[in-house]
Amino acid sequence: MDGATLHSDLDKKALRAKKKAKSTSYPERQLEELLKNQSLEIPHTKHHLVIGDSRDMPEIADTSVHLVVTSPPYPMIDIWNELFEEMGCPNFNTMHAYLAQVWKECYRVLVDGGIACINIGDALRKIDGKFQLYSNHVKVTQECEALGFTSLPYILWKKPTTRPNAFLGSGLLPPNAYITQDCEFILIFRKGRPRRFPPKDLYRYASHYKLDERNAWFTQIWQLPGARQENHYLSRRVAAFPEEIAYRLIRMFSIIGDTVLDPFLGSGTTMKVAINTHRNSVGYEIDTKLIPTIKERLSIEDDMFNKYSVEAFDIYHREDDSKESYKG
Ligand SMILES: C[S@@+](CC[C@H](N)C(=O)[O-])C[C@H]1O[C@@H](n2cnc3c(N)ncnc32)[C@H](O)[C@@H]1O
Repeated sequence: MDGATLHSDLDKKALRAKKKAKSTSYPERQLEELLKNQSLEIPHTKHHLVIGDSRDMPEIADTSVHLVVTSPPYPMIDIWNELFEEMGCPNFNTMHAYLAQVWKECYRVLVDGGIACINIGDALRKIDGKFQLYSNHVKVTQECEALGFTSLPYILWKKPTTRPNAFLGSGLLPPNAYITQDCEFILIFRKGRPRRFPPKDLYRYASHYKLDERNAWFTQIWQLPGARQENHYLSRRVAAFPEEIAYRLIRMFSIIGDTVLDPFLGSGTTMKVAINTHRNSVGYEIDTKLIPTIKERLSIEDDMFNKYSVEAFDIYHREDDSKESYKG
């Protein structure tokens, strides 16, 4: 074999390896691959969407959820003004009191050792001529700790800014300019002591992450693009987080067959990823206009049942006590 052939062979091998590495990453990687060489059945999962207010979650039993992944409406951010007004929350403190009722319910339904991941951004607002930062992440942390949650190291989600030169202040003169807010927080809380498992729990082992995933995920800064939104209503009224965020958090903090809750489901990102990663899920959403979007996101007609072994999906409309049920 001459040098040129050897190199072209090596190039082909490198290319194949690269392609393989790519094809094993989300969303293509399936449980089947994780379970390779293990005689484990893919669990049949169940998914419940409640159209109702998550400040009260009577549909969920105490200590029955393993992980909460969510992003609430952000206090003091313009797109959520209307919602908070409708809910009778005119200011920073009342907005957080509204959210805290949901955190309280999350605490009740989580198992001992269960984790809550809350994505939130701080806000900037001028009131009566005074411009200031409203630190939503501090307030959520205080509320959650007061409920009994333990704070764990958080993640800063650094979004690429669409306006890298955006600058709040006066030209190039110090000292009155403001830092550009290009990070959001993913706050992480635990209820009680770390979860315990029987030795060599098979689903736990089948849920392992790879070394390169661990190195990328368990760091404090995640540089990820935001979710792309073609739909105007969704971008104005939902502010979805990207699937990659839900995917990482679910893989990091739950195991196959666990139950994941999103009390502010929006377009359904958390539920979709829970289905894809073989976790059960529960989602709450008050905006009925989002039902068609959620159904479309979950591909309830085809993919969900055949590809991901979903056993059942239902939508409970709390207001008129009616239920739509779908089975595989
Ligand atoms: C920031 S969005 C969630 C976006 C979601 N992570 C996604 O990827 O699409 C917050 C959602 O919470 C909903 N919401 C607000 N208050 C609620 C409540 N009390 N109960 C249930 N849903 C609520 C809003 O209608 C909105 O869709």
